Amino acid sequence: MPLATLFKSKGPTGFGANSTAEDVTAGLSLAGKTILVTGCTSGLGAEACRVLSLRDATVLGTARTQEAAERACAALPKPGVGYPCELAEPASVRGCVEAIQRDGHRLDAIICNAGIMALPKLQTAYGYELQFFTNHIGHFILVTGLLDALADDGRVVMLSSMAHGNAPAGGIQFDNLKGERGYSPWANYGQSKLANLLFARELQRRFAGTRKTAYAVHPGVIHTNLARSMGKLTDFALSIAAPFFLKTIPEGAATEVFAAVHPKALPLAGQYLADCNLGKPSNYAQDAELARRLWAVSEEIVRSLPT
Ligand SMILES: NC(=O)c1ccc[n+]([C@@H]2O[C@H](COP(=O)([O-])OP(=O)(O)OC[C@H]3O[C@@H](n4cnc5c(N)ncnc54)[C@H](OP(=O)(O)O)[C@@H]3O)[C@@H](O)[C@H]2O)c1
Repeated sequence: MPLATLFKSKGPTGFGANSTAEDVTAGLSLAGKTILVTGCTSGLGAEACRVLSLRDATVLGTARTQEAAERACAALPKPGVGYPCELAEPASVRGCVEAIQRDGHRLDAIICNAGIMALPKLQTAYGYELQFFTNHIGHFILVTGLLDALADDGRVVMLSSMAHGNAPAGGIQFDNLKGERGYSPWANYGQSKLANLLFARELQRRFAGTRKTAYAVHPGVIHTNLARSMGKLTDFALSIAAPFFLKTIPEGAATEVFAAVHPKALPLAGQYLADCNLGKPSNYAQDAELARRLWAVSEEIVRSLPT
């Protein structure tokens, strides 16, 4: 347990910053549950998959390639099923949706965990800034494509970040989604994580009258491969800082797993969670109109992409 979480108290759910994914699932049997996790090859996604399968869930893990997904899923305590899903490639995401539908899975939870962070220079996919496209649009296609496969009480968990507070003025720059009018690695990462949060909020609104729920989570700050684009020096500095200031990977995976399976998450539906309790979202993150507009614009973007 790092110093960062050693003295933190637990919140009303009984869990806190130093709870691990194993802690939040202790005593729960997930037998009969099927849970889809994007980004099963590394970091928090790999740990979430491990713990969910340890509790007997059937894990469907996605990765950029079939081979990577199968390799990661075969290594789980209860081997899962791997699907290719390159989030920056709409045809791959749609292929993943079709394969999951074809295989007849009924999903008890979808954890949208995969992501990229702080790309130093502007990169694009289909003309859109790559962090927005990968983190938000890729998951938008996946989740909206799988809504019919979601169980009646199914849950959708979006990996956001406290970095959603770094989003630019206006929150989502609808007139600069391609990045051509200015790009900043952190503001654009923040925008993509705000988009993840607003998507969960709008999804919860659309789930009204059903037992389906949606959540956005901040996992904490954890040294994973996420920092890979920030260079070797930063990676080295993070590895030195990690034991003192950062959460461990098992602690980092706790909040997404809590949101996906724990009964105590249900009263928190539609909210932004951190340390397995209510978090503090930014003002933009609470803007229902912004969330509706983002959904409408995302639909337009998806319609405009090649089929
Ligand atoms: N670590 C933190 O401190 C932190 C803080 C706040 C939020 N988060 C969020 O937590 C989530 C998990 O991050 P992590 O720390 O576990 O990072 P990680 O170790 O880098 O894992 C990210 C996963 O996403 C996958 N991925 C990336 N781009 C993809 C693409 N285009 N298509 C398909 N899969 C892709 C990666 O696959 P490859 O290995 O093949 O690239 C990997 O499996 C992210 O959404 C991140 O924004 C993390």
